[in-house]
Amino acid sequence: MKVAVFSTKPYDREFLTQANQIKRADHELRFLEPRLSIETAALVHDATAVCGFVNDVLDRPVLRMLAAGGIRLVALRCAGFNNVDLVAARELGITVARVPAYSPEAVAEHTVALMLSLNRNIHRAYARVREGNFALDGLLGFDLKGRTIGIVGTGRIGICVARIMTGFGCKVLGADPRHAAEFTGLGGRYTHMDELLSRSDIITLHCPLTPETRHLIDAEAIGAMKQGVMIINTGRGALVETRALIRGLKSGKIGHVGLDVYEEESDLFFENLSEQIIQDDIFARLLTFPNVLITGHQAFFTREALTAIAETTIGNITQFERAGQPTHPVSVEMLA
Ligand code: NAI
Repeated sequence: MKVAVFSTKPYDREFLTQANQIKRADHELRFLEPRLSIETAALVHDATAVCGFVNDVLDRPVLRMLAAGGIRLVALRCAGFNNVDLVAARELGITVARVPAYSPEAVAEHTVALMLSLNRNIHRAYARVREGNFALDGLLGFDLKGRTIGIVGTGRIGICVARIMTGFGCKVLGADPRHAAEFTGLGGRYTHMDELLSRSDIITLHCPLTPETRHLIDAEAIGAMKQGVMIINTGRGALVETRALIRGLKSGKIGHVGLDVYEEESDLFFENLSEQIIQDDIFARLLTFPNVLITGHQAFFTREALTAIAETTIGNITQFERAGQPTHPVSVEMLA
């Protein structure tokens, strides 16, 4: 099958080419560097499938253009599908596939890396020591043992985080409309959002971005949190209202913030902008706080995860070609 692969980086090319060979799939992969948008959709020449990533735009106008150009499959090489208009895709006869699980451990371990770095000020210590400054003032941390971790979304990634944090001797609270026996088996306790917000020392977000979860962490939610709370978001940027986060940081209500995702990340992340002036004032303000640590959507970025993503993506395309249905379809019903 001819596949137009958008937002291609050298590592995507390497892992997808390898998976195409290993799986003897023989798909014709056309690697395109630009992000998919209404301006770039025309780059799809006589392909049947489009392969996209988290910041590719797959809204109704783009999908309409793709359908008119003969695209029948959108194979996402990520788990989240909030960037796709699934209703439009269905109406236009475009099947959508994703990679539901590649390495939940990769994201969970990065989540914990952010917690530990912030908790012990590793990001500041690293810079200080390189400057020959070995003073400890300002680097005071706190023990994780005995602390309460609030996990919003106890799916694959949330459960991995719970497993790691119980290893540190933390108490784990979970909020999720679906209760997983594995979570309670680990010693986690389900509660409602209000109690999770008011009792947790660290709140970490692992639910999908849906109309319901958009700005889940807003001024009101932050108001209900403990003084000095740590907030970690490796889910999706828009789960958090960034302006409210900044107000919480300025007032001292929020003690630490660790982000791997950001509401307006599509104009920033995955590119080297070090020679440019950042135009996003809200993001620039976030960077000024000493107790904020941001990574550029790299939680998924391990060798193991990239191998699994590429193999599942190639598998989805092959299965669609053979049987008319990918191995891991995304349907409108999944939004409910
Ligand atoms: P999953 O589908 O296994 O788990 C998501 C859980 O969230 C489910 O148990 C679901 O019931 C729950 N949920 C849905 N609505 C909720 C709500 N309103 N409140 C609380 N819980 C709710 O998904 P998985 O694999 O654990 O991934 C979670 C999210 O992490 C993805 O949707 C994606 O946005 C993000 N992600 C980020 C990555 C990164 O590199 N930063 C990489 C992979 C995923």
